[in-house]
Amino acid sequence: MKAHDFLTVRDLSGEEIQELFRLALDMKKNPKKYWESLKGKALALIFEKPSLRTRTSFDIGVQQLGGFSLYLSPNEISLGKRESIHDVAKNLERMVQGIMIRTFAHQIVIDMAKHASIPVINGLTDYSHPCQAMADYLTILEHKGSLKGKKLCYVGDGNNVAHSLMFAGARLGVHVTVACPKGYEPNPQALTDALDDAKATGARIEVVTDPIAGVRDADVIYTDVWASMGQEAEAEARKQIFRPYQVNAKLMAAAKSDAIFMHCLPAHRGDEVTDEVIDSKQSVVFDEAENRLHAQKAIMHELMK
Ligand code: CP
Ligand code: NVA
Repeated sequence: MKAHDFLTVRDLSGEEIQELFRLALDMKKNPKKYWESLKGKALALIFEKPSLRTRTSFDIGVQQLGGFSLYLSPNEISLGKRESIHDVAKNLERMVQGIMIRTFAHQIVIDMAKHASIPVINGLTDYSHPCQAMADYLTILEHKGSLKGKKLCYVGDGNNVAHSLMFAGARLGVHVTVACPKGYEPNPQALTDALDDAKATGARIEVVTDPIAGVRDADVIYTDVWASMGQEAEAEARKQIFRPYQVNAKLMAAAKSDAIFMHCLPAHRGDEVTDEVIDSKQSVVFDEAENRLHAQKAIMHELMK
């Protein structure tokens, strides 16, 4: 990997992503082979938002590679308030070999990476969730056997997860359709960047408003919560706006008959997805969750070795 940090999927080339997938699959098959790959190295986990999967997968993942982890909760370091990002970076680089950070503004991870001499991994910002997209496409590869030319339809809010799915789709040649209500489209710069990257692979990246038209011929149907962390005050209003974008049996039936259902989790059952879909045979949400572990072990191995 050429990049020193992993802040967005765009930090990686298509070949580097494929290489990380090969490594992740080998780690999944032969975990013992890598038990000492980060022996004695420590990863700081900075969380300014809640988490189940990201915390567990990084915490356990680094230990499975022979390293240590240190969890720093929102109250602990109070990033930018108790201490500047610069000073946090300069302290941590003296004691640990990598920083994973989950926060609000994307600029915070950019600033952390600028000031820290050690690798910084983005564990979710308001703008992107690159580790999620890596685990997601790894899961699609396992279930579909290949990636290039497949179609993923993301139904719902044009948020951090949607951005990362577009970026990775563009790099891998996967067509990505985002079906969302007017006013909730992906960030215009994210769309421009994905469209630019897609020129090299022929991926079709598009934004539509009609979910039924969006999922036509899709191999993968993906959704996420309608109100992300930090948008709790908008949750009730968003429920009305997003109702037509619920992934239910009727919407699944409009996609390919062998389409898989994906969700980064946590899910709000009965809102963006019904029980019948998330609990169906088509749903691969827990494979996806497990693959956070394998994909991130590959990323940590490459960045911190
Ligand atoms: N998908 C995901 O990042 O889950 P957590 O918010 O629980 O970490
Ligand atoms: N879009 C969601 C993803 C959670 C993993 C959020 O930012 O809250």
